[in-house]
Amino acid sequence: MKVSEALATRISCRAFLPDPVPEAVVRRILDHAKQAPSGGNLQPWIVRVLAGEALAALKAEVAAAMETHPMGRPTEYAIYPEPLIQPFHARRKTCGEQLYATIGVPREDKAGRLRQFRRNFEFFGAPVGLFLFLDRTMGPPQWSDAGMFLQSVMLAAREEGLHTCAQEAWAMWADEVERHARPPEGAMLFCGMGLGQMDEAHPINTLRTEREPVERFAELIGF
Ligand SMILES: Cc1cc2nc3c(=O)[nH]c(=O)nc-3n(C[C@H](O)[C@H](O)[C@H](O)COP(=O)(O)O)c2cc1C
Repeated sequence: MKVSEALATRISCRAFLPDPVPEAVVRRILDHAKQAPSGGNLQPWIVRVLAGEALAALKAEVAAAMETHPMGRPTEYAIYPEPLIQPFHARRKTCGEQLYATIGVPREDKAGRLRQFRRNFEFFGAPVGLFLFLDRTMGPPQWSDAGMFLQSVMLAAREEGLHTCAQEAWAMWADEVERHARPPEGAMLFCGMGLGQMDEAHPINTLRTEREPVERFAELIGF
């Protein structure tokens, strides 16, 4: 698969088939992704991947915790800046509205939106859940390195015919994740990522988010 094809076909998959992903495939994806660059070659990513009973146990614990904290717990890092200025606020709103439209959940259907939000904590049915942690001493440059690693995982997954969904929402359940994923002392959860076969028939996977054209975010000077 060409890189351009992997980039074009990568979407955030929010409905997976339950078909397991062999451990060898997960290892191959990580083996490719480890080539991601990082400032000073720090390779700051700390990864834990859960499947089978380990994943089921985490999902069960989070489902129980959601009974008392339906909106999750406060996160250690701010998922979005406060306030979220324009044009970013508008982009986020559009993306949310388009997502809920795919499954016919209108803005006023709070219960329907909450139901969909909670699907995050089932990894949208993915058989594999990856978690990315960073040491708490790491700063913005290393978080950026982690982003490059995550995109590398997503593209390598495409080459395997698999799909992914990065999920910051898991930061709301960092304690539960830590208990099950057992990162080293001092590591902080950035996000989760579901990995598996896409359920092509599910309407939620019809969402194709928009992008600004190159001229809107880049200026090429001196050509
Ligand atoms: C770091 C990161 C965290 C994300 N967290 C979530 C999440 O918690 N739940 C979710 O449904 N989507 C999440 N997304 C997916 C974004 O909403 C998605 O990438 C964006 O809307 C663009 O759509 P696309 O990935 O389909 O191209 C996340 C994406 C990234 C890169």
